[in-house]
Amino acid sequence: MVKNYNEVLYANERIETPRLILRRAQIKDAADIFEYGSDPEVTKTLEWDGLTTIDEARDSIFNYYWEVPGKWLIELKGEGKVIGGIDVRLKHSHDKASFGYALNRHFWGKGYMAEALEAVVVLCFDKLEANRVEARHFAGNEASGRVMEKVGMKLEGLAKQGEIVKGKPHDVLFYGLCREDYSS
Ligand SMILES: CC(C)(COP(=O)(O)OP(=O)(O)OC[C@H]1O[C@@H](n2cnc3c(N)ncnc32)[C@H](O)[C@@H]1OP(=O)(O)O)[C@@H](O)C(=O)NCCC(=O)NCCS
Repeated sequence: MVKNYNEVLYANERIETPRLILRRAQIKDAADIFEYGSDPEVTKTLEWDGLTTIDEARDSIFNYYWEVPGKWLIELKGEGKVIGGIDVRLKHSHDKASFGYALNRHFWGKGYMAEALEAVVVLCFDKLEANRVEARHFAGNEASGRVMEKVGMKLEGLAKQGEIVKGKPHDVLFYGLCREDYSS
C-alpha cells in the first residue's frame, strides 16, 4: 500500500460513479444522515447503535465523518440527497482494507451500494495499491454479502457465533479479494 495513503484519501474525498457522488460530509447533511441512521431496520445489522436525535447526527459529522479521511456520504446524483455512507478502514501493516456501509432503506435493491463499493474497491487497488480488500457481515444479512460478491469479493469462511453484538451472538461471514484475483 502506498505510504502517503492519507494524502490519497484526501485527494479522493469526492468520487463520481454513474449515479452517485461519494463525498465529504457537510453540516447540511445532518437531516439525511438522521433519516437512515435512526432507522432500526438499517442499524439492526450493524455494530453501530444508530442515532436517536438530529443533534447526534450533527455530532457524527464532526466526530466521525471528519475524524479521518476515507469516510464518504453517498449522494444521489442530480437530487442532492444523501442516501447513505461508506467508509474504508486501512490496515497498512497488512497492506489491506476493509469496509463499512449503510443505505437509507427507501433506496435498497437498486444496486446503489454495489456501485459505491465498487468505486471504493477500485480506489483501494488502483490508487492505494492495497494487496487485499475484505469485509464481513452477520448471517441473515445476505443482501450485504451479495453486495460484496457483486464487486468480485468471494466468501472465504464463516465464524460460528463469531461476534456478540447488541447482546446476541452472530455467525459472521467473511469475504475477500486479493490483488492477483482482482487483476485477472
Ligand atoms: C446491505 C445494503 C447496504 C445493501 O444495499 P443495496 O443498495 O440495497 O445493495 P445492492 O442493491 O447493490 O445489492 C443488493 C443485492 O442483494 C440482494 N438481496 C437483497 N435481499 C436479499 C436477501 N434477503 N437474500 C439474498 N440476496 C438479497 C439483491 O437482490 C441484490 O442483488 P442483485 O443485484 O444480484 O439482485 C443495505 O441493505 C443496507 O444498508 N442494510 C443495512 C445496513 C447494513 O447491513 N450494512 C452492511 C453491514 S455488513
